[in-house]
Amino acid sequence: MAEPFLEVKALCKSFGGLQAVNNVGFRMEKKEVLGLIGPNGAGKTTLLRLLTGILKPDSGSVRFRGKQLVGMKIWEIVNLGVACTFQNMRPFRRLPIIANVMVSCLSPRSMRRGEWVKIVRAKAMDALEFAGISDMALEKASTLSQGDLKRLEVARAVATDPELLLLDEPFGGLSPAETDLMAKSIRRLHKGGRFGRLHSEGPAMIIVEHKLQQLMKIVDRIVVLNFGTLLAEGTPDEVVNNPLVIEAYLGQGGGQ
Ligand SMILES: Nc1ncnc2c1ncn2[C@@H]1O[C@H](COP(=O)(O)OP(=O)(O)OP(=O)(O)O)[C@@H](O)[C@H]1O
Ligand SMILES: [Mg+2]
Repeated sequence: MAEPFLEVKALCKSFGGLQAVNNVGFRMEKKEVLGLIGPNGAGKTTLLRLLTGILKPDSGSVRFRGKQLVGMKIWEIVNLGVACTFQNMRPFRRLPIIANVMVSCLSPRSMRRGEWVKIVRAKAMDALEFAGISDMALEKASTLSQGDLKRLEVARAVATDPELLLLDEPFGGLSPAETDLMAKSIRRLHKGGRFGRLHSEGPAMIIVEHKLQQLMKIVDRIVVLNFGTLLAEGTPDEVVNNPLVIEAYLGQGGGQ
């Protein structure tokens, strides 16, 4: 049998006495788009951090295309083709916006694909164009609004040519119009194609989001966390009609 694209098994992480991620397991297929939802503090960000190597799990396994990611360094994981955006964004604030993305273009994974420093800038520009902030390329990152910072996050992640892209609240803090634009970009990226020098083969994605209405339009399947454990898994329809989910999440006014 072919090895799964991503297989997470019995993943656990605690902070002191708090079990933030408790025995979580799921699988995903190549090119699938998975939503990851749950109330505040459910463990969504912690789970993404475990997948990208920012945090080390107490136990459990994360296999990506047959390779065990647990124990690998963050850059090794990026090099395998896993990229993420952050809920709390931390760009290089004193560098121009384009330089922030050029750093991603200089990743060994990106360079190995035949890129050279000379065209890195052009590629970074294409990533900014894709994300919709190319007109601000030379401004300092510290000048960006919340919405534009989100776009910079996407440009940085996309510039590493990921096969698996993890997005932590891509709509967080965005106006309805900005949310629509971001949703459009995500769908365009997933569809794949050529965006200037970027070649998107349509990465698989895990998207953490509280704005459920918009999320439902993008994802194939949803995983629900509650108090660190996996509460439900299924299609968007199955999940929104699951009484356990309604009680844990939607009932708290979390759905938008
Ligand atoms: N570095 C840390 N040290 C201590 N506790 C932490 C740390 N990171 C997360 N936690 C705790 O772990 C739990 C899960 O947090 P996490 O950030 O993963 O939740 P979340 O589902 O992403 O929530 P939100 O929707 O608010 O972003 C919370 O109780 C949080 O306070
Ligand atoms: Mg979070």
